[in-house]
Order: sequence, then C-alpha cells, then structure tokens
Amino acid sequence: MITLIETIETWISYCADVKSAGLTIGFVPTMGALHEGHFEMIRQARQETDCVVVSIFLNPTQFNDTEDYDKYPRTLDKDRALATDAGADVIFAPQRETLYPDSFNYKVSESDFSSSFEGEHRPGHFEGVLTVVMKLLNLVQPDRAYFGEKDFQQLKLVEGMVKAFFMNVRIVPVATVREPDGLALSSRNALLTPQGRKQAPEFHQSLTVNSTADEVRSALVSKGFSVEYVEDYKDRRLGAVVIDNVRLIDNVSIKDSI
Ligand code: PAJ
Repeated sequence: MITLIETIETWISYCADVKSAGLTIGFVPTMGALHEGHFEMIRQARQETDCVVVSIFLNPTQFNDTEDYDKYPRTLDKDRALATDAGADVIFAPQRETLYPDSFNYKVSESDFSSSFEGEHRPGHFEGVLTVVMKLLNLVQPDRAYFGEKDFQQLKLVEGMVKAFFMNVRIVPVATVREPDGLALSSRNALLTPQGRKQAPEFHQSLTVNSTADEVRSALVSKGFSVEYVEDYKDRRLGAVVIDNVRLIDNVSIKDSI
C-alpha cells in the first residue's frame, strides 16, 4: 500500500531523500473523495515525473459555508487504495493544525479576478484556496503541480500566484473529465439523489448548446436549476448552479461555438 505521510517532519525527510536521489516530484493537491478526474491527474503526473505525491486535505478556510464543509464526503481509507491503483507513490494528509500553525492569520489574496464568478458567490473562498495551495507548494516542493480545468478560475488564480511570487513550479492544466452524459466529475456528485443525478447533466448540455449566456441561464431556470451565475470570461463560459441542494460548477470553451 502507498506511503501515508501525516506530519511535516516525515514529509521533509522523505522529500529530502527524493531530491537527493535526483528524482522529480509531481504533485496533485486534492480534498479527497477521489474520482476519475483526480486519477487522470495522477496518471499524467506518473508519466511526467518520478515521484507522485497526492495531498488529501479538506481545507476549512476555503469553505464559506459550514454546512458545505460538514457534508463534504470524507473517504481517506478508500482514497488511499484508489490513489495507489492510479499510480501515486505518496499521500500527504496533514491535520488542520499542521497546515495552520498561524490559525490562518497569514493569507494570500488576489484583488481582481478572485472577486468575480466563484469569488462573488463564495466570499473568502479564493483566499483560502490560494493560502493552502501556497503552503502545500512550499512544503511539497514539486517540479510540476496539476490543476483541473474543471475549476477554471482556481487554475487561473494559481497560475497567477505562481507567477506573481516567482514560485519555482510548473502548473500543469488537466482537461475536465466527464461522465458519458457530460456531467463533470466532482466529489459533490455523490451527494445527488438519483433524481438530481438524472437532471444534473442538463447543466453541461445547456452550457454547450445555447448560444448566449442569457439563453443558458433561461434554459437552466426552466429546467428547475437555481442559477448563481452563467457568464462568459474571455473564451470560456463559466457557470454555477444548485440542483437537488447540491452546488455544481462547470465551464466550457466557447472559442469555436460563437
Ligand atoms: P478538489 O475539488 O479535490 O480537486 C482537486 C483537483 O482535481 C483540482 O485541481 C480540480 O480542478 C481537479 N478536478 C476536480 N474534478 C475534476 C474533473 N472532473 N476533471 C479534471 N480535474 C478535476 O480543487 C480542490 O480540491 C481544492 O481547491 C485544492 C486545490 C485541493 C485546495 O484545497
């Protein structure tokens, strides 16, 4: 079974061995409840680097809603087995106090793009994301770190942070992995009832088939979705909806369609 590392001391000593052997590190940060989207990132890291590290940390500071945090699926034992099968070498799963010795007094913030889209609907979310990602990148010291296009705004903000702070890591974008019916894989999909699961793919279908963001919003509302936002940003269309009490986000390229 895969190596499980829970303390910083153990990680630092493991990392020193990896680096002194001249091996490269590929890093896949996650909050657990692993699915095929995460496995795709692990497989890509496996191909491109020598030592593949997956972090599992349900980061409390990026949840603006405590109920969302409380009901987030927690499946560490299962994740451990699944990450092994996907080809990871190490799981880094620190405790909350380990990553936040400062009690979140120190924060990384971005003052432009982070206040729109997800940021507008989830105040403080990206401060929590960027802070934990900076902590994890500083600790893990990867050569490459993998981030999914599924969380497009997160990917762009992490790329921006790495550039702004001259961080020595290559951020590798990974295309969104979807169910055959188009629904983007997400740990939150597990919270859908069978009825909600049937309706959920209409989110991606509407994003893709309607020609303006306004039309997408109307189509989704008429199908029973509560729409937080559907808006275009450069050559992407980003959306967040609630269906069946579950909040889903997605985005598609609109380069070729409009
Ligand atoms: P989490 O939601 O677990 O996602 C971990 C990584 O998997 C993210 O980079 C996310 O974009 C990617 N991912 C999720 N679903 C995907 C899919 N269907 N296809 C491709 N990639 C997918 O995102 C986070 O955790 C956290 O914010 C984190 C970066 C770990 C910081 O806490």
